[in-house]
Amino acid sequence: MVLVLRGKEGVARAVQLLRQGECVALPTETVYGLAADASDDEAVAKIFSAKGRPKNHPLIVHIPSAEHLDHWAAEVPPAARTLAANCWPGPLTMLLRKSKHASLVVTGGLETVALRVPSHPLFLEVLASVNTGLAAPSANRYKHLSPTSAEQVVGGLAGRISAVLDGGPCEFGLESTIVDLTRDVPRIVRAGPLSRQLLEGILGGPVEMPAEHDAIVPGNVSAHYQPRTPLRVLALDRLTRADVVNAEPGFIVYSKQVAAQLAVLGVADRVVYQLPENAAGYGKQLYAGLFALDQLGLGVLFVEEPPVDDDWAAVNDRLKRALD
Ligand code: TXA
Ligand code: MG
Repeated sequence: MVLVLRGKEGVARAVQLLRQGECVALPTETVYGLAADASDDEAVAKIFSAKGRPKNHPLIVHIPSAEHLDHWAAEVPPAARTLAANCWPGPLTMLLRKSKHASLVVTGGLETVALRVPSHPLFLEVLASVNTGLAAPSANRYKHLSPTSAEQVVGGLAGRISAVLDGGPCEFGLESTIVDLTRDVPRIVRAGPLSRQLLEGILGGPVEMPAEHDAIVPGNVSAHYQPRTPLRVLALDRLTRADVVNAEPGFIVYSKQVAAQLAVLGVADRVVYQLPENAAGYGKQLYAGLFALDQLGLGVLFVEEPPVDDDWAAVNDRLKRALD
């Protein structure tokens, strides 16, 4: 049984459990995280075992405010301060050289540490109370979908964690943008809700974004966000072809005309997940859609191919990883 915590009392109980060295699932604005005291190696070890995650996959340390940067990082370049001032609290994670306070258990043996200040009010309340860093990866089992609601956390980690703080559905629904600031030119190593264009605007200079994501982020293994049902991404004109419709599939679409055509072809509503046509709205609901359709035990999931541009980079990145 996973205890579902709510409101002020829930926050107090979550804080108590964290202080006792337990791990607790907490809501962030991106996805739910499985948190433990980043300064307690034994507590952090519980995260790895609950997720079944390899020990060399480093964790993000969530901090109460930018004032905590210098505690966890040994070198904080001006660009990092500028990004912190403009993007925190929010869905931006920065890679920096680690200080002696960042344990190698948290950093997976690396000399860098990933830091972010999340914006979910309940997570911020917990951070203000514990007044330290909380290591937290997404609250899913290794290689499963990241949860965007407390129910999904319970579904994925029941029997492996004691509690989840319910903060409602996540605002962004995709994991934070990760920027490596240990280089001369900052580099996006995981696309996320904050686009390259936005970061370049804030910094007034170039930000690199490789087409294929860096091996520097050990979690960027190609097959990562996989639903159990096989998944195919198809262009709009192929989605309504007879061979597709007759395969007893589920659909994730965003064009209203495709949804209408599928209805005409007799495809049941319950297997068609209609997402918003804008990248932010789409990203927010993508994991919920994959999760819902994955529960139906269908033969295959077809996803309408999204546009390819900076705004859709995070969505396209996650879909690429979800392909079998
Ligand atoms: O939005 C998010 O970032 C969510 C919420 C909970 O904050 N967290 C999240 O954590 O997505 P996780 O562990 O699922 O993904 C973090 C990624 C992993 O691929 C990990 O390998 C990478 O960040 N990472 C963490 N520390 C790193 C480091 N020092 N160097 C390189 N990559 C690092
Ligand atoms: Mg994850």
